[in-house]
Amino acid sequence: MEKEKPIGVFDSGIGGLTVVKRLASALPNENIIYFGDTARVPYGSKSNSTVIEYALQDAKFLMNKNVKAIVVACNTVSSVALNELAKNFNVPVIGMIEPGAKFAVKHTKNGRIGVIGTRATVNNKAYSKEIRKHNPAIEVFEKACPLFVPLAEEGWVNTKATHEIAEEYLKELRELDIDTLVLGCTHYPILADVIQEVIGENVTLVDSGIASAEVVRNELNRVGFETNSNAQGHHDFYVSDIPVTFKEVAELFLGRPVKDIHKVEIEHIAVD
Ligand code: DGL
Repeated sequence: MEKEKPIGVFDSGIGGLTVVKRLASALPNENIIYFGDTARVPYGSKSNSTVIEYALQDAKFLMNKNVKAIVVACNTVSSVALNELAKNFNVPVIGMIEPGAKFAVKHTKNGRIGVIGTRATVNNKAYSKEIRKHNPAIEVFEKACPLFVPLAEEGWVNTKATHEIAEEYLKELRELDIDTLVLGCTHYPILADVIQEVIGENVTLVDSGIASAEVVRNELNRVGFETNSNAQGHHDFYVSDIPVTFKEVAELFLGRPVKDIHKVEIEHIAVD
């Protein structure tokens, strides 16, 4: 029975836990299986072909766990591998770009949207293309902010260094009169307070995790796969490596204690 199968969620590492947090509040009764490729993170600085290869392996791992849908909780993977994933797996595949882009289009009033993400996401212009599909008149300004990933993983949410780096990255965007800024990387919601302070209170931040959780709910409903259970959903976490700081960082990203963490061997994921 499809309805009682878990939802599969994957990311290059732990950033996708910010999406699990949003999914768990939108769909509290759904079971979730998370895979974070912590042994091979970051994906954001890798070539498109490597990201596609890894993404297919990650999704296959989840399919072997019998999931009813796959949420690609990584903007980098969503920007380069979504079509490949949808072609290869016969379950709904939901990424970050389309939900985040639509949300931004709905919220902008002056038609000027900023997007921040990894180098791969920005170089692929995934958000610009998606936003212009919905409204070609909108101007989109993209900026890669690669140092935000290690800062979030260090838990440096409110340090002087984080402020300074945010100032440096966001100064151009601040001059461009944007009224909406897409957090186009699943690590960035951790730094939302600093980003908001630096970019200005009048700019609306878009968390793609919130937007995609809504899309997952609608999609499960559309295909009739939503659970009938009234019990609290169970969440299982699989990672390809457990770095020393994993637990603290995971808890920061998820916003609650993390149990049920399993390590899987990368060789087991990488087999055909
Ligand atoms: N969480 C990833 C994203 O949303 C960024 C980390 C990485 O570079 O792998 O793009």
